Amino acid sequence: MSGGDKLDFEIRPNPQPVPAADRAALLANPGFGRVFTDHMVTIRYAEGKGWYDARVEARAPIPMDPASAVLHYAQEIFEGLKAYHATDGAVTMFRPDANAARFAESARRMAMPALPEQAFLDSLRHLIEIDRAWLPTTAEGSLYLRPFMYASEVFLGVRPANEYLYLVIASPVESYFSGGVQPVNVWVSPTYTRAAPGGTGAAKCGGNYAASLAAQAEAIEHGCDQVVFLDAVQRRYVDELGGMNIFYVYDDGSLVTPPLGGTILPGITRESVMTLARQAGRTVLERPVSFDEWRTDAASGRLREVFACGTAAVITPIGQVRSPDGEFTIADGAPGEVTMGLRQNLVDIQRGRVADAHGWIHRIG
Ligand code: PLP
Ligand code: COI
Repeated sequence: MSGGDKLDFEIRPNPQPVPAADRAALLANPGFGRVFTDHMVTIRYAEGKGWYDARVEARAPIPMDPASAVLHYAQEIFEGLKAYHATDGAVTMFRPDANAARFAESARRMAMPALPEQAFLDSLRHLIEIDRAWLPTTAEGSLYLRPFMYASEVFLGVRPANEYLYLVIASPVESYFSGGVQPVNVWVSPTYTRAAPGGTGAAKCGGNYAASLAAQAEAIEHGCDQVVFLDAVQRRYVDELGGMNIFYVYDDGSLVTPPLGGTILPGITRESVMTLARQAGRTVLERPVSFDEWRTDAASGRLREVFACGTAAVITPIGQVRSPDGEFTIADGAPGEVTMGLRQNLVDIQRGRVADAHGWIHRIG
């Protein structure tokens, strides 16, 4: 791309889209991240040339040289956001500009070129327009959009690549957790940490998730749905979950969430929850919470609710907490009133059931 931030997309419709009856069967029970639409977006980047060859085309395997830099040094970033069928029939996205900004920030941390925000937003819009028939219309359903970018240069030297491929794929989804909106159990890992100060914790890079898998496996071995990571320096303070941020709700109605500081992903849901809770008159503090404090306050009853939040998880109550020292339950283990109220508030905005006072909703038409 030369000049401005706008890219022209060449649209090449899939000559063999999934037949409507097969699509309907897939949409009847899509789960999370298993079903994909008919198209994808690709944009190429080369040093000295900039962004070029923006396309919407049939979703297909990507030919890859075995020496592609990403396969060796993991220079890769991604985003996750959802498109919804609003109640008035429009298709909308929730805060895609925030995802564009975080994608650019992740790119900077991973020494990759930043895709201009307009090109990021246009890529999503084109894919939604062409794959609109794949948007679930169920109460919990949405179209999960997965923009990502990797180092495609064929080179084994350890330095930032000179060539990148940006893609967007889309997946119709229902709830991330198979139990739907039920409290989940979490495992506080004594073994693994996620991100150290100065590391890549605030970037949405694939490597962070690769590093979380052994910890997540440990959680599953202990009957838990998600792992909770403690800070890498003192192993005392709660950072976040494998794929979600965390909030604590106290008996005075206030909310607390761990502060950003380089080791936590700056969640867009996290920021939205803080805004909605403050708007409802609640005090929201960003401050460190130690695991000891979590356990003590749960035992005394001062801590009333705990929830996880993220694009995939939306807002999910946390019921039980397990660690090698034993387990404890948050209040009676059932979904809390504040958690479910904030969830309803957020989902109502996302689905266009209540006014969007913050300019969070982008209409596709
Ligand atoms: N933390 C991690 C590690 C995540 O993977 C996610 C999901 O994207 C989040 C937090 C929540 O971020 P967001 O609300 O932007 O989806
Ligand atoms: C998301 O919530 O979008 C995530 O990326 C979490 C997980 C599915 C990786």
